[in-house]
Amino acid sequence: MSSAEVAVQVFKELENEDFRILNIIEAGMSKHEFVPKEQIQKHSKLPMDRVDFILGKLNKLGLTYRTQETYNGHTLNYTGYDCLAINALVKAGVIESFGQTLGVGKEADVYDALNSEGRRIAIKFHRLGRISFRQTRRKRSYSREHSSWLFQSHIAAEKEFEAMKLVYSKGVAVPEPISHNRHVVAMGMIEGAQLYKYKDIGKPEKILKDILRNVRKAYLKAHIIHGDLSEYNIILQPDGHLLIIDWPQAVKTDHANAGEYLERDIKNVLVFFSRKFNVDLAAKSACDYVTGEARNLAF
Ligand SMILES: Nc1ncnc2c1ncn2[C@@H]1O[C@H](COP(=O)(O)OP(=O)(O)O)[C@@H](O)[C@H]1O
Ligand SMILES: [Mg+2]
Repeated sequence: MSSAEVAVQVFKELENEDFRILNIIEAGMSKHEFVPKEQIQKHSKLPMDRVDFILGKLNKLGLTYRTQETYNGHTLNYTGYDCLAINALVKAGVIESFGQTLGVGKEADVYDALNSEGRRIAIKFHRLGRISFRQTRRKRSYSREHSSWLFQSHIAAEKEFEAMKLVYSKGVAVPEPISHNRHVVAMGMIEGAQLYKYKDIGKPEKILKDILRNVRKAYLKAHIIHGDLSEYNIILQPDGHLLIIDWPQAVKTDHANAGEYLERDIKNVLVFFSRKFNVDLAAKSACDYVTGEARNLAF
């Protein structure tokens, strides 16, 4: 089971008071590695035996870690953080029900859901530090680093949502950005597979042009460079249209290293098309086209 699947299961077992306690722990984590039980109780305005019961439940469900070393303290893990984000999105009417995992990427779990109108949407849970987190966890002193990963994932989701909104509004082919909360982004659900998975894509030259047309639009109209473009972040849909996904590392075109990012994005795509489909295009021609220095691509 992916972490998101665990959260979706556990989410159903949570009541208002459980969420209240999770929220208090989250707020306390800005100051404490482990939020002291007394502080949680104070903010909850619940009797201590009730707080003890809830903290035990949250821990048993795998939403929190606790320390007993010098004091009794509690901290959220990704599952706890997932539940808070899910709860907010459900309350906001963004999510009505969950389906199943769509993809487990290197830094995110993507989940299928329905909104209140019965439309299928994709829910992306950012999971920065997942790998290093496992390693630090083994060393048993994980939580300071861990809480910073939750925070970094929150930032990543925020950045991705903002970048997607901007490029979407300029007509770049991306899933429709719907909403975001904490480390989670809700977006339009897409059919199709990552470009690298296709053996035959019909007219590769046409697809390459289509990709570069979108990179150009993002650059010239939204002033954004994807920053992690490759055959893994381009989805080819059954109808032959493509979508560019995975935008958390997008940078503005006035970023100090914008030129390097753009060149790397373009080269990733060109190398892929050259190796896999024998379609060759000079990087200079592609870059000039994307930045508006040339009106057309010179194949
Ligand atoms: N809007 C979406 N609809 C359907 N599947 C998606 C959507 N966004 C992402 N996915 C699936 O989830 C995988 C991981 O998403 P991605 O945004 O690339 O995150 P990362 O690579 O950082 O883990 C994708 O390769 C794709 O299979
Ligand atoms: Mg990706």
